[in-house]
Amino acid sequence: MVSKVKRKLIADALMEDHSFQTAKQALVEVVRSHSESITTISAPRQELRESYETTLKHFENCRGLNLFYPYLGSGMGNGALVELADGSVKYDFVSGIGVHFGHCHPKLIEAGIDAAVQDIAMQGNLQQNRDSLRLAELLIEHSGLDHCFLTSSGAMANENALKLILQKKAPASRILAFDRCFMGRTITLSQITDKPAFREGLPAHLFVDYLPFYDWRAPEKSTQTAVRALKKILKRYPGKHSCMCFEMIQGEAGSYPGSQEFFLALIQVLRDHSILVFVDEVQTFGRTDHLFAFQHFGLQPFVDVVTCGKLLHTCATLYKTELRPAPGLLSQTYTAATSSIRVATAIVESLVNEGYLGESGKNQQFRHHFVSRLEQIASRYPDCFEGPFGEGLMVAITPFKGEKARVTHYAKALFEAGVISFIAGSEPTRIRFLIPAGGTTLSALDEVATILEETLVRCQTD
Ligand SMILES: Cc1ncc(COP(=O)(O)O)c(C=O)c1O
Repeated sequence: MVSKVKRKLIADALMEDHSFQTAKQALVEVVRSHSESITTISAPRQELRESYETTLKHFENCRGLNLFYPYLGSGMGNGALVELADGSVKYDFVSGIGVHFGHCHPKLIEAGIDAAVQDIAMQGNLQQNRDSLRLAELLIEHSGLDHCFLTSSGAMANENALKLILQKKAPASRILAFDRCFMGRTITLSQITDKPAFREGLPAHLFVDYLPFYDWRAPEKSTQTAVRALKKILKRYPGKHSCMCFEMIQGEAGSYPGSQEFFLALIQVLRDHSILVFVDEVQTFGRTDHLFAFQHFGLQPFVDVVTCGKLLHTCATLYKTELRPAPGLLSQTYTAATSSIRVATAIVESLVNEGYLGESGKNQQFRHHFVSRLEQIASRYPDCFEGPFGEGLMVAITPFKGEKARVTHYAKALFEAGVISFIAGSEPTRIRFLIPAGGTTLSALDEVATILEETLVRCQTD
C-alpha cells in the first residue's frame, strides 16, 4: 500500500529542527551581545597602529593597487558603526559603496547561518537551490517585470541586460546613454561609462551616443536640450539604436537625480522609435521611497529591462517576456553565494515589510532628517558647503567649491574623524553618502552631521 503521509524534505526538517533553531538563536544572540558593545566612534588603538599600517601596505601590495582609505574591517560592527582592524570604530556612511544594510544586522546574520548549513556554498547554472527561485520570484513580484536572471556583480547584470537587448534588436547595435553615466568596468561597459580614464588602453567595439542629463537648475531647458539632442542623434543614425541606458539618480557622477518629466519626455521619443528602455538600478535599488527608483519616478509602464545589485547583495537582470534570449546567450557557472542569495531575500523582505518604503517610510525619514541637518550647515558656511543634493538615501554635498584636492582632503579628514564617505563626480567633485537604512538611527545622523561640521571648520584652514 502506498503511504499517504507527506514526508518533509530533509532540508526543511533541518531548518525546523529544534537543536538547529536553538543553536542558531544562540549564535545570533552572541553576535548581538558583542556587536552591541560598539556604541560610538573611537580612535585607532595605539598598540595596533604599527601592525595595522604594515598589514595595509602588505594588502596594497597583494592587490597591486593602493587603497583610497586605510580601511580594513575587523568583521564586526553595529548598525551604522563599523570596527576596523586597528581597533577604531567609524560611522560607515558609504556602506561599502552602497552594499551594507547595517553592520551585524541580526536578520542578515540569521540568513547567513541558514545559508552556511546548506549543501552548497555557491548557486548557479546547474546548482540552483530553492533560494534562487525565491529571490527571483520576489524581484519579479516587486518590479512588475516578467523574468529575473541572477548574477554576481552589477557589471555582469548590465552585460547580461545588454546581451538580451542587442540580440533582440540586432542589427541595431548603437547605445544611447547620458553624459557622466556609470555602468561598470568590463571592456564593454567601460565604453558606456563616461570616464575616459576607465577605458584607457582598452579596445573599442561599441558605438555609444551621449545625451546631457537633467539639470535641476534649469528643469525645462535641460529637458528640451536633451530631447533635441536625442532627436538629432536618431536622425543621424536612423534605425541603428537598440536601447537607451538610464540611471534614475546618477550615483558615481555625484548623486544627480533626474525628474519624471525629463525621463518621460525622452521615453516618448524612444518609444516612437522602438528603442528599448534599460534602467540601471545597481546603485539606486532600495534607496528611495520605492524598491526601485523607476517606480519612485512613476515610470512603471515604460521600462523594458532593469538591473540591480549593491544593496541587494546578489545582482539581477529583470526583463520583459519579449526579450527572452535564445538558448546559449546567458549562463554562468555560479550566480552568487548561497549566503548572498539568502541575505538578498532577507533585505528585500525587510525593505518591503518593515516600513522602509512609502512617502513616510524610514528611507524618507532618514533622508529628511539628515538633509535638514546638512541644510543648517550649508546656511552657516555658504562659502564652502553647498547642498545637500541627491534623492532618497543617496545624499551628496559639494564642499570647497568642488575642488578635487580639497574635497579629497576633506573626505580623508572625515575618515580620520570617524565618518566614512566617498568622493564622486568631477567639476565639481562632491562628497557622497549612501546611508545604511537598516543600521542607522536619527541620533547617528545627528552625530555624523556634527562631525561633518567640525571637520569642515578644521579643513577650512588646512
Ligand atoms: C549605476 C551602476 N551600475 C553598475 C555598477 C557596477 O556594479 P559592480 O561594481 O557590482 O560591477 C555600479 C557600481 O558602482 C553602479 O553604480
